[in-house]
Amino acid sequence: MAARTSPLAWLSLVIFTLSMFMSCSHGSSDNRKVYIVYMGSLPKGKVSTTSLHTSMLHEVLPGNTVGSDVLLYSYHRSFNGFAAKLTKDEAAKLRGKDGVVSVFLSQRKQLHTSRSWDFMGLNRKVKRSVIESDIIVGMLDTGIWPESQSFNDTGFGPIPRKWRGTCQSSTNFTCNNKIIGARYYRANGDYSPYDYISPRDSEAKGTARGGVPSARIAVYKICWYDGCYDEDILAAFDDAIADGVDIISLSVGSIFWSDYFDDTIAIGAFHSIKNGILTSNSAGNSGPSPSSITNFSPWSLSVAASTIDRKFVTKVKLGNGVIYEGTSINTFDLKGKMYPFIAGAAAPNTSQGYTSEDSRYCGPGTLDETLVKGKIVFCDYDSNADGPVEAGAIGAVFQSGRHKDYAFAYGLPLSNLNLDDGRIVFDYVNTTENPTATIFKTNVEENQFAPFVVSFSSRGPNPVTADILKPDLTAPGVDILAAWSEALPLTETEDDTRVVSYNIISGTSMSCPHATGAAAYVKSFHPTWSPAAIKSALMTTAFPMSSENNIEAEFAYGAGHINPALAARPGLIYDAGEIDYVKFLCGQGYSPKQIKLITESNTKCSEVMNEAVWDLNYPSFALSTTPGDSVTRVFHRTVTNVGSPVSTYKAVVNAPPGLIIQVQPSVLSFKSLGQKQSFTVTIGAQLGNSMVSGSLIWDDGVHQVRSPVVAYASLLE
Ligand SMILES: *[C@@H]1O[C@H](CO)[C@@H](O)[C@H](O)[C@H]1NC(C)=O
Ligand SMILES: *[C@@H]1O[C@H](CO)[C@@H](O)[C@H](O)[C@H]1NC(C)=O
Ligand SMILES: *[C@@H]1O[C@H](CO)[C@@H](O)[C@H](O)[C@H]1NC(C)=O
Ligand SMILES: *[C@@H]1O[C@H](CO)[C@@H](O)[C@H](O)[C@H]1NC(C)=O
Repeated sequence: MAARTSPLAWLSLVIFTLSMFMSCSHGSSDNRKVYIVYMGSLPKGKVSTTSLHTSMLHEVLPGNTVGSDVLLYSYHRSFNGFAAKLTKDEAAKLRGKDGVVSVFLSQRKQLHTSRSWDFMGLNRKVKRSVIESDIIVGMLDTGIWPESQSFNDTGFGPIPRKWRGTCQSSTNFTCNNKIIGARYYRANGDYSPYDYISPRDSEAKGTARGGVPSARIAVYKICWYDGCYDEDILAAFDDAIADGVDIISLSVGSIFWSDYFDDTIAIGAFHSIKNGILTSNSAGNSGPSPSSITNFSPWSLSVAASTIDRKFVTKVKLGNGVIYEGTSINTFDLKGKMYPFIAGAAAPNTSQGYTSEDSRYCGPGTLDETLVKGKIVFCDYDSNADGPVEAGAIGAVFQSGRHKDYAFAYGLPLSNLNLDDGRIVFDYVNTTENPTATIFKTNVEENQFAPFVVSFSSRGPNPVTADILKPDLTAPGVDILAAWSEALPLTETEDDTRVVSYNIISGTSMSCPHATGAAAYVKSFHPTWSPAAIKSALMTTAFPMSSENNIEAEFAYGAGHINPALAARPGLIYDAGEIDYVKFLCGQGYSPKQIKLITESNTKCSEVMNEAVWDLNYPSFALSTTPGDSVTRVFHRTVTNVGSPVSTYKAVVNAPPGLIIQVQPSVLSFKSLGQKQSFTVTIGAQLGNSMVSGSLIWDDGVHQVRSPVVAYASLLE
């Protein structure tokens, strides 16, 4: 970790600084802000899109001044559009122009990444495809640390011939046969002293073993000290698609949602699938409130974050010998030494007018330094450790009902106790003469409740298309960076006090690379499968999860916990191609003109039979209704046989009271590979303000092709 503003910090800002999006747009001094003008697919024939973009700008800008300070990017390799600095009026004029799908303000998005494989059952001995080394994973993130042993290319053959990308090498950065491409994007040219102006990662030097160790990596650095800007994200997509990557991993998201074509990630992901490339996205870190999910387009894989089978126990020992177990990542070693222990409530900085009622929370400035210095302080809340750090405390014990399911690292030895233990410890410190305590280094222990979806992981339902279930699945995303924490200098933050307290080490953007690796693994066995087929394989083979651990059930974990090894053998797949997305967009209410621009399809909505969004050939089923209504709906689906050539699948339905699921026909017989069979699923439910969920499993005795079925009362309709 070389930089002070680590992605760890960005992640926590997403969680805690909800007001941040107020300042997410950026502009220049002359009232111009960066807008994305999205124009759909590339025009056919030899059209110079860049001169088209320039002339469009000429028409709306005064005085014919279209330099590179105005036109930041012209997207022309994989789709059509540009990023430009515009006034509100100029943007409005462009919005009305022919050929324009959408015009929206660029926003700053946030990121985090890491990896952890063994828990998913994809261990080192797992079966490998011989063509794994042809798979190119495009990583859109903070860049890369090429000297890491993870990227040692010993034993790698030559670069796959399909690769068309470049390496922005410099004296200090070179690619090899593992990292085959690397570029960076920063239209505003605004670098901090902590940024490397190269594809080098200044945020996270460590990277563990990848899920597909032989795959090649192409790096598109879009995230810098202050986050990731939309115009750069879209530029990276434009290149990655054209460069020939097989999978795109994007662990970036905003904290609020937009419509599909007002969102650079959904736009990029759409043009990815048009080119046969699946985009794996983090669902976001704004949970657990409903519809907090941000990356939810039906053409991308939306990945939630769940626990792995580890938890981080930080013990606190009191002067009376009793030991309590709390949660945190504490790498500081007090060597068992007992320190004086004081309650924050007993140490208000009275010269500033603070009372015990203020200082019990140990907020910054509320504590009396002379009383707290050199002691361990007991605090009534778990907001952050700034107060105790500022007051010179040796350590802190927080009593908190929150953060039980993931761990933070802090700027001093600290443990979060639950409320029951907290009460006893407070009594001790409050009533004992000369109370003492010590805090131990964190132990990693088995977490018997794993996996469950962590509270911060963004939840469905889908805020734009209520009848497409999101997230799609979950993958490990909690406490993943623990292996790094020993090396992680927590005092790196001397000049940025915000960061130290929020040094969180979990995120959906950590679970996303797991899913990307799993998708690459599936693709290495099935190189011709479409993005929808790969996604279907990942979803229908996921481990079912229990709503006992997550009351939001499928809105927390989608189809369940990713199971990469099984995903290579799904039996049946729910495939989808261009025409399916055209129907979907019709159902979603896009105009024929927009659909033509986006998809190049001349299909008119009136010509397609089913244009209901829920008839997209999706591997899950979501039925939204209004509270109190009784509703029955028919879903159309088609499966493709990729299992045994001759096979017979029976529909096994799992439906709790209140949910009716009927499948017609209930037996599907296949005589060859690639054969397709269609069926309908009739789902009926009567709901109060709740959700019910069941499942449909196609079972041939060998493969269990499982789809979640959710019916819920939507407040969105
Ligand atoms: C890469 O790995 C090989 C074999 O483990 C080792 O000999 C070589 O020194 C490594 N290269 C670098 C640049 O670290
Ligand atoms: C080159 O990269 C190293 C990190 O390996 C960094 O410490 C050094 O400052 C860089 N040198 C230049 C000239 O950028
Ligand atoms: C009380 O707060 C003020 C202002 O932050 C600080 O200067 C002073 O040192 C504090 N007093 C004690 C005893 O901590
Ligand atoms: C114990 O806590 C109570 C309530 O905060 C407070 O009134 C009392 O003074 C404390 N006693 C000691 C010995 O700190």
